[in-house]
Amino acid sequence: MCGIIGVVGSNDTLGTLLQGLARLEYRGYDSAGIALVRPGQTWRARCASGTESVAALRVECEDAPTGFRSGIGHTRWATHGAPEAQNAHPHLDCSGAIAIIHNGIIENHTELRGQLEAKGHIFSSVTDSEVLAHLVEESRAAGLDLMEAVRASLLVVRGAFALAVMDANEADVIVAARRISPLVVGTAPGVTYIASDVPAILDRASAFYAVDDDEVVRLAPEGFRVIDLEGVPVRLHQLTIDWNLETAEKGGYDDFMTKEINEQPDALRATLLDRRRRDGTITFDEMRISDDELRDVKRVVLVAAGTSHHAALVAKYALERWARIGVDVDIASEYRYRDPIVEIGTLVIGVSQSGETIDTIQAMREAKRRGARVIAISNIVDSSLAREADAVIYTRAGLEVSVASTKAFVAQVAALELLALRLAQLRATLPPDDIDALFLGLKAVGAQVKTTLERRSAVAQVAAELIGARDFFFIGRHVGYPTALEGALKLKELSYLHAEGYPAGELKHGPLALIEPGVVVVAVVTDRAMREKILSNLAEVKARGATVVVVATDDDEAIGAVADYVLRVPATEPMFSPMVDIVPLQIFAYSMARGLGRNVDRPRNLAKTVTVE
Ligand code: G6P
Repeated sequence: MCGIIGVVGSNDTLGTLLQGLARLEYRGYDSAGIALVRPGQTWRARCASGTESVAALRVECEDAPTGFRSGIGHTRWATHGAPEAQNAHPHLDCSGAIAIIHNGIIENHTELRGQLEAKGHIFSSVTDSEVLAHLVEESRAAGLDLMEAVRASLLVVRGAFALAVMDANEADVIVAARRISPLVVGTAPGVTYIASDVPAILDRASAFYAVDDDEVVRLAPEGFRVIDLEGVPVRLHQLTIDWNLETAEKGGYDDFMTKEINEQPDALRATLLDRRRRDGTITFDEMRISDDELRDVKRVVLVAAGTSHHAALVAKYALERWARIGVDVDIASEYRYRDPIVEIGTLVIGVSQSGETIDTIQAMREAKRRGARVIAISNIVDSSLAREADAVIYTRAGLEVSVASTKAFVAQVAALELLALRLAQLRATLPPDDIDALFLGLKAVGAQVKTTLERRSAVAQVAAELIGARDFFFIGRHVGYPTALEGALKLKELSYLHAEGYPAGELKHGPLALIEPGVVVVAVVTDRAMREKILSNLAEVKARGATVVVVATDDDEAIGAVADYVLRVPATEPMFSPMVDIVPLQIFAYSMARGLGRNVDRPRNLAKTVTVE
């Protein structure tokens, strides 16, 4: 998944592109490049310097000619072709006049490349994207204007794309198009923008519009027009943007991750705001599925990826316990391709911070195609997932920039547990008093997270003492299991250390063979009902020389006897504990990563929003 930005009609083209690329780096940062276009001239610069690519590009652009009012920029996350300068975008056609940037994967690129090479086109990269430049070149040579040339090219392309194309022979025009990969248009007086996501152009444009699948947009300084792949004019949906640039800045912290970890109490408060009427009814403004339909749900399937998948795993326990509905949790990329069963009464819930993860979107589409009703749990208003679902519950955690997800996780758990309570209400599977008490308990979680955040330095101290360790197992039972999975994910993605999450009871069925002195076992032991069982598991690893770290509640005084290190949290209702227990594990992973000199906001090889399969 790559970042895309383009502008036409600007007095600050270079500044717009470089600033936009800096904001898009979280989408991918293997390389970055820009093309500036004016009548008769296309000027290009590209750098492949890993996380420093945009900074290197900025230096390279110090020599850029001035006076360009239009251009496009790209930050790349490599799929086809190594992260080298020759594979960086923009790609040019044979004449050097046409420049294209692309996010997505052109699945039939090998076949198209063969056909184009047979016609004499010379390729200068090994990317799938470059075929687009040569396809447009062919159509332009046949006399089509740029918009028609792009439309004609896309008719032969298979796969996913968000792309933007310029041509020095039709300067001050960008033609952009989308299939699956996200794309937004922004407008301001006399200037028009295109971007893969809103932050890139947030403080430049005043109105924002979402491009939908198979739509082609022609941007000119005075505005834009849109057609579908048949050439029929279409209108774009205007987006509601409920955050500003300030919220996207670091807010005085060293990095976005620290800021976002500290924002978790606010994220929880916002997610729960106005969700309960005076009479106790739990409500969702964006719930467009009737109460009758919700009451009759026979089965719930949660689909998600990464951290969102771990939030979905927590929800399984709550939905089954409170609403007495059978729940399956699926990795989104697995759901779509295994011929899933969707019977009458199946409710599919797609959980995605960005609402743009392609695996999750495709899983939801598949579920819809098979007749399921679908709900999106999304953090981004008007995201693709939100727009396509029958109903949406926004997590309202605010913009999350750090690649490793933190505040989105706690907000997702809260939103999903709220939904579980609503279903329990509708199905009368819990007494109203219990639902009221649970709702109040959920509202109190923010304060418990705040208390836990105040203990940051104690957690950092434990991380400092374990800095030489290389192997970690995170274990838990019940909802402590998804918490363990999420703790392990945080540690591996941030610190690049080996970390695995396991159900504590499963250790003896294999992983125990790996336990030896030097291995660290981190156990979530906050659930009283599970305590004795986990202590037995810990005795097994201690006997084999592991170092034991536990997350335990303040009132568990005896735990010190079995643990080498204790990370303390306030006690809470077990179903809410993942939102509290994950906090020391986030701080632990962060501290280890910082101790090892890692870039915590931008871990290597990863991206914030994954819009390729
Ligand atoms: C990427 C991110 C993860 C995130 C996952 C799912 O892998 O690096 O932090 O959990 O995508 O993203 P989503 O936006 O769908 O929640």
